[in-house]
Amino acid sequence: MPLTINGTERTFDGDPRTTLLDYLRRDCNLTGTKKGCDHGQCGACTVLINGQRINSCLTLAVMHDGDAITTIEGLGDPQNMHPLQAAFVRHDGYQCGYCTPGQICSAKAMLDEAALGWPSFVTPDITGEVRLTRDEIAERMSGNLCRCGAYSNIVDAIVEIMEAQR
Ligand code: FES
Ligand code: FES
Repeated sequence: MPLTINGTERTFDGDPRTTLLDYLRRDCNLTGTKKGCDHGQCGACTVLINGQRINSCLTLAVMHDGDAITTIEGLGDPQNMHPLQAAFVRHDGYQCGYCTPGQICSAKAMLDEAALGWPSFVTPDITGEVRLTRDEIAERMSGNLCRCGAYSNIVDAIVEIMEAQR
């Protein structure tokens, strides 16, 4: 079964019970994607599938026939960081860093969702323009937990990139 991971075509022919998370980490050696809870509760395993965020622990690799998957390694690397990665560094948006790949993948998709006008639970007027306030960002990132409590700096990093994209 073909799929594309960070721009490289691959073939999945493993056990159909394999989660996408285990496939990425174990079979593709893409260990930037983290296993926190393995139950869809922490967001550490967030990756992008066709540009949309998903908890890779909650989906099977075999369900992604033909999909384009982007992990943190596909967003950037230390020599050529994605703007969000650089902003997380500038704003100290992490401590241990375990949640960080998931936070950054999630933030990337979240900014795209807001740009498309998708409302969140705290959007005051779902028929109006989406304005990404800090409360909006916190709500939209609430699926990504940080045990180190770097939330305020994570939001600072995202705000910087949001303002740069205006
Ligand atoms: S490891 Fe997937 S949500 Fe926690
Ligand atoms: S930086 Fe440690 S869990 Fe978020």
